[in-house]
Amino acid sequence: MKFTVAILALALQVAAEQHIVARNASVISGLLSSTLTSLTIADTQVKAYPGTHGLRGANTNLYKTIKKNTKTAKAMPELTFEDAKAIGALSRRVSAAGDSYIKDLGAAAPHFAAAGVCTYLEHYTINLSAAFGEFFTAIDAKFPAGVQVAAQGHFAELSALFLGAEKALAPPNCVNQIEPPRMHGNHSGHGGHGAGHKPAPVVTAGASGMAGLISELSPVAALAAVVAAFFWSLE
Ligand SMILES: *[C@@H]1O[C@H](CO)[C@@H](O)[C@H](O)[C@H]1NC(C)=O
Ligand SMILES: *[C@@H]1O[C@H](CO)[C@@H](O)[C@H](O)[C@H]1NC(C)=O
Ligand SMILES: *[C@@H]1O[C@H](CO)[C@@H](O)[C@H](O)[C@H]1NC(C)=O
Repeated sequence: MKFTVAILALALQVAAEQHIVARNASVISGLLSSTLTSLTIADTQVKAYPGTHGLRGANTNLYKTIKKNTKTAKAMPELTFEDAKAIGALSRRVSAAGDSYIKDLGAAAPHFAAAGVCTYLEHYTINLSAAFGEFFTAIDAKFPAGVQVAAQGHFAELSALFLGAEKALAPPNCVNQIEPPRMHGNHSGHGGHGAGHKPAPVVTAGASGMAGLISELSPVAALAAVVAAFFWSLE
C-alpha cells in the first residue's frame, strides 16, 4: 500500500510546528501491536502451508483480534495529529504486514486447492475484509476531521488487494481438489468430487458472496483505505 499523501504529510508538519501538546498514544499503539502480531503469525502459517497445521487457528485468532480491537477503538479517545505522528512507524508496519498477508493468501491458492480448503479461505477472506473495514472505520472516526477528508481519494489500492485475494481463492481460480477436511460438526463447506476428477466449480456461495461484497465493500473499503493512506503518509 504505497500511498503518497503529500497533503497529509504537510498537514502533520504544520501541526507539529505549532507545538500541539503530545498525548498518550498507548491505546492505539496497543491495538496496532496486537494486530501486527496476529497478522505476522497468520502470514507465517500461510507461507508455511501445507507444512503446518496452525492456519485455521491463526486465521481465527487474527479475525477475533480485529473484532476485539474494533470494540476498543470505538471506546478510544479521539486522536490528535501528535498521536498520529507517534504511531506512524508502527502503522506502516501494520500496513506492510497486512499487504503481505493478503497477497500471500492469494498466492497460496494452489496449496489450498490441493488441501480442499478453498471454500473456507474464500469465505474467511470475505469475513476478514469486512472486519478490517470495521476496524479502520472505528479508528478513522477518531482521527482529526481534516485528515479524514484529505485522504479520501486513496482507497482503490486496498480494495483491489482484498478483491484480488478473494478472486484468487474463488472458483475457477481455486477449486477444491479433495473433500474439505471435516471440522467440528458438519460445517465442511462445499466439497470436490474426489481425487482424479476435476470438480465442478462451486459458484453458488462464492458468487453471491462476491456480489454482496462488491455491493457492500466500497464505502467500507474507502474508509479502510483512508486510514491506511494516512498511516502510510506519516513520517
Ligand atoms: C501512557 O499511559 C500508560 C498507561 O496509562 C502509561 O503506562 C505510559 O507510561 C504512558 N506513556 C506516556 C508517554 O505518557
Ligand atoms: C464468515 O462469517 C459468517 C457470518 O458470520 C459465518 O457464518 C462463517 O462461518 C464465517 N466463515 C469463515 C470461514 O470464517
Ligand atoms: C454429518 O454428515 C453425515 C454425512 O453427510 C451424516 O451422515 C451425519 O448424520 C451428519 N451429522 C450431523 C451431526 O449432522
